[in-house]
Amino acid sequence: MTNLEEMLNWADNWMVAQTGEPLTPIQEAILKGVWQRQKYPQIAKDYNCSESYVKKEAADLWEKLRDELGQDLKKYNFRSKVEKKNRVSEISHLHDSFLQIDNVICNQSIQTIKDTQHRSPSNSNSPSSKNQPTIIDLTEAPELTDYYPRPTEESTLKQWILEDGMRLVTLYGLSGIGKSALTVKLIQDIQTEFDYIIWRSLGNPPPFSTLQTELYQFFSQSQPNPCATLIAYLRSFRCLIILDDVQNLFKSGEIAGQYLAEYEEYGKFFKQLATSSHRSCVILLSWENSRELATLEAEKRPLRSLHLQGLETLAAEQILKDKGLNDETQWAELIRLYQGHPCWLNIIAATIQELFNGNLSLFLSNPTELFLGDLEPLLLAHLERLSDAEKTVSGWLALQGEAVEISPHPVESGLSKSEFWQAIQSLARRGLVEKLSVESGYRFLINPVFQHYIQSQLT
Ligand SMILES: Nc1ncnc2c1ncn2[C@@H]1O[C@H](COP(=O)(O)OP(=O)(O)O)[C@@H](O)[C@H]1O
Ligand SMILES: [Mg+2]
Repeated sequence: MTNLEEMLNWADNWMVAQTGEPLTPIQEAILKGVWQRQKYPQIAKDYNCSESYVKKEAADLWEKLRDELGQDLKKYNFRSKVEKKNRVSEISHLHDSFLQIDNVICNQSIQTIKDTQHRSPSNSNSPSSKNQPTIIDLTEAPELTDYYPRPTEESTLKQWILEDGMRLVTLYGLSGIGKSALTVKLIQDIQTEFDYIIWRSLGNPPPFSTLQTELYQFFSQSQPNPCATLIAYLRSFRCLIILDDVQNLFKSGEIAGQYLAEYEEYGKFFKQLATSSHRSCVILLSWENSRELATLEAEKRPLRSLHLQGLETLAAEQILKDKGLNDETQWAELIRLYQGHPCWLNIIAATIQELFNGNLSLFLSNPTELFLGDLEPLLLAHLERLSDAEKTVSGWLALQGEAVEISPHPVESGLSKSEFWQAIQSLARRGLVEKLSVESGYRFLINPVFQHYIQSQLT
């Protein structure tokens, strides 16, 4: 079932069978609006009634439909549930061929979630567990070992992807900040909302045409009637594609997020994802946000970017606990110094074990100098990607030692106003500079650990 009319027909028949009455006009308006991913205020406006009336009617309607579509039915998953449900009945005669295809896929170590026990518990007893399995290829994703929750970021991403229908989401931030780990966790939570999920690492990016072919083959191998193009799959199915280490598509030594000549096709694809209509979502994990996508986001297209920062204190403390550090009262100070960055905390905690047998107060005994040690190669990798202007601005920001205003721009930096502002913008797109809101407006702060590194390089 792919069109609105068929859905309304199906819902109407179901309602008659259940209650002896057809859909009421307001129920029809709600189903129609939700199918088209409209929000309740818009539905109320189109139907010329109050928002509270739509909400009340919708709540009653979902309650009825839960018997058919599962107890976890919500506004945002209505469409995917109806489609999955009806696709199963439409293709039941193809069951045998699907089993064969599943076997082929499993042999290639691609995982299919067809066992209802693998679905979320809330789903397991519902009729939706009869659904066509989500076909998942996570062979290139990192394994999730110790993971401590990031409730704020997890719910933001779920909201964007499932409720707001964002088609392209960029998660950017420093290396080791937890982009991949968070995304693997997210997939565990939302996998049942998709028909296909595939993770590709761009650690060593192939030409775009190769990736395109790979994705196309992944989608088409389970389809008796393949679609003509990749974008046609993204339109016909709910696909989730994760591309990791996207920074490798961008130039080094220049302003952040500009495609290398050989990877410009990727840029066109991302733009197409953000501007043309489809039902899928692509998540980009990157050290830097794309310049072009930042511009499209400002134009209010259906794409978003999230700058991933450190873990909350409770989660970061778990890392220190796992590493067996002593002096619990000083954990918060260590987390503050290394900004809850999970990878940095792991590395520093290992050093504290190595040098001081886990005795944190000995490590913190000289508070003026921040110890970098094994973090240096990680910081160098970021420094090397900066443009000359960004290096100059980072040096200037490091000297200030506090958040600064950027207007008027500092003449002593030796840069023109546009060079200076562009460098700040670019450093922010790399997550190395943060914009802080203060009473008088905004101030910019360089990442404190990076600041120490820059200072150590300058002296
Ligand atoms: N939420 C988390 N809880 C615990 N450890 C984490 C978390 N996120 C990341 N880590 C640790 O930090 C390391 C780097 O995370 P990763 O997701 O690979 O970073 P990125 O993809 O941003 O480079 C992981 O191997 C893991 O040890
Ligand atoms: Mg990663």
